[in-house]
Amino acid sequence: MPYLCEWLGGPKNYSAQRGHPRLRLRHGGFAIGEAERDAGLACMRAALVDVGATPELQSALMTSFFKTADWLRNTGLSASPTPSISTTPKESS
Ligand code: HEM
Repeated sequence: MPYLCEWLGGPKNYSAQRGHPRLRLRHGGFAIGEAERDAGLACMRAALVDVGATPELQSALMTSFFKTADWLRNTGLSASPTPSISTTPKESS
């Protein structure tokens, strides 16, 4: 919780207690692949629903959680990972 408060722009209590978050390092002892990423994200979604977060807040936070959770994957990475979003520039009309 202190981490999320800080991550969302609140008081820096997490850093005061634990130092720099170093998320990749702190998650390094746990195998996180796509399944673990998605299971974690499902828990985060359930927690947001539990606390009554609005759909707009859920989607904003889930987008950010996804980016961080995907970056935390440390197992099952393919040699040439396929991005989950399109990298093709949109055609101008
Ligand atoms: C969705 C996939 C994720 C998985 C499977 C996962 C798993 C874990 C595990 C196993 C721990 C260690 C718990 C312990 O030491 O008892 C942990 C800690 C932590 N995770 Fe995640 N995590 C995920 C995503 C995230 C995301 C998206 C964030 C940030 C937005 C995050 C932030 C943290 C923080 C701050 C800690 C505590 C680190 C510390 O101070 O020791 N995690 N996570």
